[in-house]
Amino acid sequence: MAVTIKTEREIELMRESCRLLAIVHKEMEEAIKPGMSTKEIDILGDTLIRKMGCIPNFKNYHRYPASICVSVNDEVVHGIPNKHRILQEGDIVSLDAGLIYKGYHSDAARTHGVGKVSPQAQQLMDVTRQCFFEGIKMAKAGNYLFDISNAIDAYATSFGYGIVRDLVGHGIGTALHEDPQIPNFAQKRRGIRLRAGMTLAIEPMINMGAADVVWLDDDWTVVTEDGSLSAHYENTILVTDGEPEILTLY
Ligand code: MF3
Ligand code: CO
Repeated sequence: MAVTIKTEREIELMRESCRLLAIVHKEMEEAIKPGMSTKEIDILGDTLIRKMGCIPNFKNYHRYPASICVSVNDEVVHGIPNKHRILQEGDIVSLDAGLIYKGYHSDAARTHGVGKVSPQAQQLMDVTRQCFFEGIKMAKAGNYLFDISNAIDAYATSFGYGIVRDLVGHGIGTALHEDPQIPNFAQKRRGIRLRAGMTLAIEPMINMGAADVVWLDDDWTVVTEDGSLSAHYENTILVTDGEPEILTLY
C-alpha cells in the first residue's frame, strides 16, 4: 500500500479525531489510582469515546477484546484489561487508545506512574517520552523516514535501554495501520522521503533491560523477556513543510 498524503479536508478530520483522543487520555490519566482495576480504565475510555460519537478502533481489531490496551510494568503493549488486575502503588501503567471520528483514526499511548514510583521507573517513562520528541524533531518534509528511527535509537541507547524491535510505529488515516512502518531502532537505509500531509503514529516502546519481548498465551499481551519494566509513548503527528504538528496532545 502506498503512503497516503492527506488533503486539507482530511487533515481537519484527523485533527478532530486526535483532539478528541487527547481528551480521552487526559480523563484516563486523572482516574488512575492504586486499587483500580485495568478493566475500569477500559470501561472509562470506551464510554468516553462512545459519548463523543466515535468508535474505539482497537475493539475487535484482529479480535482484540477491549477498547483500551492497558499494560502494567513488564507488559510492553496490548495488555488485556481485567477486573482482577488491580493497580498497585509504584506500578507503571501504559495506556494505548485510539478512536475513529468520521472515518478517520487517531492513536496515542502514554505510560503513567501509579502513585509514587521509583526514580528508575520515572526515568524510564521520561526517556521514553523524550524518545518520541527526539524522533519528531526529524519529522519534516524533505527528511527521510529513518531519520526518525535513528534519532529515537540514539537517545534510548544513550541510557542503556532496550528498544523493542518486534513492534513499530505506522502511518494512520482511514485505517489504523497504514504504510509506512516506523521502526524505533537505527536503520542502515534511509527510507522514504517525508512529505507534507503524511500522518504518522510514532511510538517508541522502551525496556529498562534487554530489547527482547515474548507474547503471552492470551495471544496479545507482549512482555519483556527478562521481566524488566517497559514504557510506551505515542502520538499521531502531521508532517508539514515546517515544524511537525502533534495532533494528539491535550
Ligand atoms: N496503538 C497500537 C498500534 O498502533 C494498538 C493497536 S493494537 C489493538 O498498533 F489490537 F489493540 F488494537
Ligand atoms: Co499505534
